[in-house]
Formats: sequence, C-alpha cells, structure tokens
Amino acid sequence: MSRTVIHGGLVVTASDEIHADVLIEGGRVAALAAHGTDVAAGWSADRRIDATGKYVIPGGVDAHTHMEMPFGGTRAADTFETGTRAAAWGGTTTIVDFAIQTVGRSLQEGLDAWHVKADGKCAIDYAFHMILSDVNKSSLKEMDRLVAEGVTSFKLFMAYPGVFYSDDGQILRAMQRASGNGGLIMMHAENGIAIDVLVEQALAEGRTDPRHHGDVRKVALEAEATHRAIQLARVAGSPLYVVHVSADEAVAEIAAARHRGLPVFGETCPQYLFLSTDNLAEPGFEGAKYVCSTPLRPREHQEALWRGLRNNELQVVSTDHCPFCFTGQKDLGRGDFSKIPNGLPGVENRMDLLHQAVVDGHISRRRWIEIACAGPARMFGLYPRKGTIAPGADADIVVYDPGTEQVLSAETHHMDVDYSAYEGKRITGRVETVLSRGVPVIEKGAYVGHTGHGAYVPRGLCQYLG
Ligand code: URP
Ligand code: ZN
Ligand code: ZN
Repeated sequence: MSRTVIHGGLVVTASDEIHADVLIEGGRVAALAAHGTDVAAGWSADRRIDATGKYVIPGGVDAHTHMEMPFGGTRAADTFETGTRAAAWGGTTTIVDFAIQTVGRSLQEGLDAWHVKADGKCAIDYAFHMILSDVNKSSLKEMDRLVAEGVTSFKLFMAYPGVFYSDDGQILRAMQRASGNGGLIMMHAENGIAIDVLVEQALAEGRTDPRHHGDVRKVALEAEATHRAIQLARVAGSPLYVVHVSADEAVAEIAAARHRGLPVFGETCPQYLFLSTDNLAEPGFEGAKYVCSTPLRPREHQEALWRGLRNNELQVVSTDHCPFCFTGQKDLGRGDFSKIPNGLPGVENRMDLLHQAVVDGHISRRRWIEIACAGPARMFGLYPRKGTIAPGADADIVVYDPGTEQVLSAETHHMDVDYSAYEGKRITGRVETVLSRGVPVIEKGAYVGHTGHGAYVPRGLCQYLG
C-alpha cells in the first residue's frame, strides 16, 4: 500500500487549524501528528511532500456544475474531461453535476445519459443531482429509487417556462415526495412567468442589450420566488436548498425562514460576490459574458451575501459553472439578450476567489473551508469522506500557497472557454499540489493526473437534517 506524508504545513479544516503532518495510506488519510513529534518522525513514506509555509486543506467540493449541459440552443463548452481537469487546477477535487430529465422521459434515462458522458472522462471524483423537468406520477415514484441509489437531491425550476419550469402544484408534489424519501429539493427561485412578460416588453421596446437581462430578472421576482418556495416546502414538510442566491432580499427570506427554525439552506456563487451589473453593462456586446440566471446584481447586494456567508444564513459557495464561449455561443444573443445562453465559467476559480475573500477580510480561513469544502460535502451527503482532512477521509488534499500572487486570465486558465469572467483580477494565493484519493493530479504547477481517474461517488442524505 503506497504511503505519502505531507509535512510542515498548516492543516486548515472547517473546525481546526493545526500545525501537523498528514499520513496518507492507500488513498485515505491515515493519521495526523504534530510537527516534530516522534510519531510523525517515525512515518516511512514512498512520497514526501514539503508543505512548509503552506496550507494543507481539503480538496474543494463544487456542488453545482453543468459540464456539457445542453442549454439555450447550444451546449456548455466544458466536457467532463476538460471541466474536471480545470477544477483540479483550481483545487477542487469533487464536483456534483446535474443530470437532466428530458420532458416526456424518465429520470433514469436522464441519469444514464449523464453517466455515459462522465464515465471514464473525469480527472476528479464526481456525483450527480437530478433536474426534474417533468414532475408526474412516474417521475415522482422514481425519486425514491434515485435517493436509495445515491442521487439524493433534485433541482426544480420556477424559471424557464417551457424548458425546465415546474408550476407550484408540481413543486409541492415533488417536495412532498422528498419529505418522505429524505431527498433534498434544490430550487432555482425566480418567477419565470413574470420574467417572460418583462422580456417580451423589453424586446418590443428595443431594449435588446445584455444589460437588460439584469433589468428584467428583478430582485423582487427572485425574492418572491424564494418566499414562495419556502412556503411550499413548509407546507410539504420538506427541506429546501435555494441555489445561486444573488439578491439581498432573497437572503433575507432565507434568513427569516431559518430564524423560524425551518430547514432552509442557501447557496451563492463567486460571480455574485465579485461581479455586478457594472459587468453586464460593459460596452458593446461584452456584457454577454456575464449573462447568467439569477442575474448579477448591483454591487450593493454583495454585502448581504458576505454577511449571509459569515452568519450561516448561506451555507455553500458553488460555481454554477456553465461556460459558453463568447465567440460562437454567447453571440447567439446579439440583438436579443434573451437568446444569450445563460451561464458563466468558474470551476477553476472558486477556491482562489474565496481565498482572496479571506485575504480581504470577508471570511475567516476556516469559514473558507466550511463554505467551499465541508459545507457542500455535508449538504449533499459526502462528509466526512469528502470535505475534511481526518483519519478515514479520502485523501483529497490541496497544498495551497497563501503568499503567491496570480492574475486570472483566459490566457492561462484551463477551462475550455474563450474568456475569463475575472480577466485581470489579482489573487493572493495559489494551488500548488492537488491529490485525489492520494494520487497526484497537480504537482508544482503541472497537470499530472489522468482522464478516467475520477470515480462516481453515490451520495447519502443531507447531513444537516435529523
Ligand atoms: O445561468 C445559469 N445559472 N445557467 C445554468 C443553469 C442554471 O439555472 O443553473
Ligand atoms: Zn438555476
Ligand atoms: Zn446551475
């Protein structure tokens, strides 16, 4: 059995910061021991990694990605191969992607299709949520089997009428089913019916530029849908996880629900923390690079998001990685913002951007690990196998250099997309080494992993409940 020792670093988990060496045996963490102790000195190893002056952190868990997702008349640019490789470059060692049910088809058919896309392609481990596009008697029944097999969370959409949209009755039924089978309902909370009216009116008035995407997807319509989703979950007696929260009023709805003791959880994404409507309003068609839903908000909303992350009103930062190239994909919406494929690249940038948030004083080091590693692992039934460094956990470990500076750019990133949403942004901190189940994937600035190393991980139930 191969043995690796990571020595000299500061081990940072969601709960502790300890100067310790880490022993890895057969792909799992075997032991931690304080630097310089007889125990650590006695460890023999095939490989020794010097982490002096570095952080030793759990690999990131990105619980919201869309590799090669068909959407908006095209397909997200990263495949499972390119997207998971890019994730590894950025210190993420597990993704939870969304399998999609096609209207008129079963959940199983959708899930099988996503297994085919991912199997043998991934550089890091992966799991699946299921998007429910067609809530009916038979798909409701299928939910029970999926939960038992390790697909324990289901995304519903209050947006995108005619595509993924579910009405309140369908949502209530899915929530009732989840309350019985232990599944977690994830909600895209925007009032899509009202938004479509505003889209039609904007286009009729000649307001066709990307910035109008932000105007029509109003804060009130995110807050209203968030409120409605919470009340429906309350009636169904089911937990609720609101995805990609961007508006301060939506955070307030989640906070109020949690204050009442309801099992309501919230996720935000780096784009809402670091970008704003100023980006959507960039000249020419540049704003299309920043079209996603929920939309970017005026900068003033960011404080509520940071506060929510500090106060545990929001528990997770995922990327909602759904990249479309500026040339050939985003430009499908020239002259009509509603045709711009929705989504941003980011799977490679999340751990670094959140470390920058530590440097900037928005969050503590341990909160960084909580919202990027341990929190998503617990939320989606992967903890403590993923999301921490403790005996028995998978040795998904990142040696992170907190002092090196880098500049984010499409010139240097590894996502298969022709722009960076964070072009030119300076970051203090950089991933140095990444291990996935003890196997090196990134080593001193080079990719040393291989396609197909990543394994499918069936998940348990949400670990914040019961
Ligand atoms: O704009 C986004 N968020 N694209 C991906 C699909 C979704 O709604 O998460
Ligand atoms: Zn969504
Ligand atoms: Zn998404």
